[in-house]
Amino acid sequence: MNAETRVAERSGLFVTFEGGEGAGKSTQIRRLADQLRRRGHDVLMTREPGGSPGAEAVRHVLLSGAAEEFGVRMEAILFAAARNDHVEEVIRPALESGAIVLCDRFIDSSRVYQGVTGNLEPDFIEALQRAAIDGVVPDCTLILDLPAEVGLKRARKRGAENAPDRFEREEIETHEKRREAYLEIAEAEPGRCHVVNAERAEDEIADEIFTIIEPLIRELALRQTRNAESVG
Ligand code: TYD
Repeated sequence: MNAETRVAERSGLFVTFEGGEGAGKSTQIRRLADQLRRRGHDVLMTREPGGSPGAEAVRHVLLSGAAEEFGVRMEAILFAAARNDHVEEVIRPALESGAIVLCDRFIDSSRVYQGVTGNLEPDFIEALQRAAIDGVVPDCTLILDLPAEVGLKRARKRGAENAPDRFEREEIETHEKRREAYLEIAEAEPGRCHVVNAERAEDEIADEIFTIIEPLIRELALRQTRNAESVG
């Protein structure tokens, strides 16, 4: 089955959340999931690295820093391996069943963390992503944007009880470089990506996210009605 056929068969909606440390992704995903569920939608909340048993096993290797000594190329391949398992075991089946999938980090994290700040060649990163997702491209990506300093301060506060992971222990310049890399992705793919100012109050951010998602939900409902009619 080729990528186009697979995507055409998809009847759900795939939304990813991206951004640096402390941008509030998990809070906003939870809020959006609650809002959509209250409206009767079938919502799957998931995250990367992880989201399936195979990918969760790889998550531990990546975030503990155990793979760091083997180099950023090895890490990029492991992220892609975890992603492929997550896509095939969890995301694709959920989309085929018509669910709204909300995923905390996805391909853009690899482009930014391994590609830009890891200095890996863009062609290598893109080839890995193509293999990992095999056509399961997000319909919408919300990039929660805020200055690196603000995000790191928030992440440190939150992490007072948890030790920082391998990717949080880096310098402020690296975090700022990631922010710019996300903004470049958004500029290059304006149809898929939306930059959301994450320096504002939680409620304001949630409202903006819902405004972005609403038309996609309406389209989804139309698509599902059409599919049901063509089957019935
Ligand atoms: P996590 O604890 O899930 O935190 P966060 O709240 O920042 O999402 O950590 C995931 C870390 O893994 C995060 O620092 C970004 C990094 N990462 C990559 O480097 N590449 C990837 O492809 C993904 C999905 C995550």
